[in-house]
Amino acid sequence: MKGLILSGGKGTRLRPITYTSAKQLIPIANKPVLFYVLEDVSRAGIKDVGIIVGDSAKEIMDAVGDGQKWNLNITYIQQNEPLGLAHTVMISEKFLRGSPFVMYLGDNLLKEGISSFVNNFDSSQAQAMILLAEVNNPQEFGVAELKNGKVVRLIEKPQNPPSNYALVGIYLFTDIIFDAVKQLKPSWRNEYEITDAIQYLIDKGFTVEPHIVKSYWKDTGKLEDILEANRLILEDIASDIQGSIDEKSTIIGKVCIGTGAKIISSTIRGPAIIGENAYIKNSFIGPFTSIGNATQIINSEIENSILMSHSKIIRLRKRIEDSLIGKGVEIKRETKPPKAYRFMIGDHSQIGIY
Ligand code: G1P
Repeated sequence: MKGLILSGGKGTRLRPITYTSAKQLIPIANKPVLFYVLEDVSRAGIKDVGIIVGDSAKEIMDAVGDGQKWNLNITYIQQNEPLGLAHTVMISEKFLRGSPFVMYLGDNLLKEGISSFVNNFDSSQAQAMILLAEVNNPQEFGVAELKNGKVVRLIEKPQNPPSNYALVGIYLFTDIIFDAVKQLKPSWRNEYEITDAIQYLIDKGFTVEPHIVKSYWKDTGKLEDILEANRLILEDIASDIQGSIDEKSTIIGKVCIGTGAKIISSTIRGPAIIGENAYIKNSFIGPFTSIGNATQIINSEIENSILMSHSKIIRLRKRIEDSLIGKGVEIKRETKPPKAYRFMIGDHSQIGIY
């Protein structure tokens, strides 16, 4: 079994973060989403992995390297234009042909991992396997219609979904998928849809086995989903205190504090994670909050948020909530007049002030 991990795409729903950073590298509990995917693939016993990269190729390559950290052999496959999931299969044929493979979208998180699906597929006669999860907003996904436990129809982003079963961004295929993707025409969003390729297999009478996932699954393509994924991962962390905490500080619940971090006169309410060399003073952090490396939080409060590395939050009067703050950002209250907001903010930033 080989792996194909998709780490291209533009991440338009996560601008401005994705202007400067690949969406697959957004940290969830201080670890890029993509690293959870690599761990999953490695745990399933897969060794040879192709990673599809687009505009953010260099950043992904710098972060992942040759894959030795996960005991993987990585081949990078460049996708010059984001022409859809099925297009990534077309351009990877040379790398994949001759072996069944799991295709895993690099911004998807699946708690139960993929080992059982990989084993199942290895011993089954199916030509493809899809994973499904029940969601409240099926319009935003590929959706499956099932009859007597069999998939009869798949539709991408349907206006009137036939069910609540969304296609999880993890698929298992045999070589027959290469025939299917070659038949495709671009969809309304000008993409070659993997959903249509799987429909082709169904229409031709091939076996497409559905599996309904029971644990949580998150596609981290939007802010709310990133914050939810952060909450779900933080719920499962084990406390680990490496940095220093002074006697005036209070730590409640499950909290990780990285090496070199300093917590002074502050309260950290878990679940929360504080990165290496962070400096937290007279502040309140958590719950469900991830604070990156080398950050500073002084006289401020932050909850249910992700603050990325090297950012500073200083003397804010109100608590920061439900926020995703990029790298090297500075938000501070001035001590001298004029009483005004002063911004230097990138395109498509979102600021909510009460
Ligand atoms: C893609 C697939 C969709 C699937 C989703 C899962 O959607 O096209 O069928 O349900 O991934 O994350 P996209 O992220 O391209 O909107």
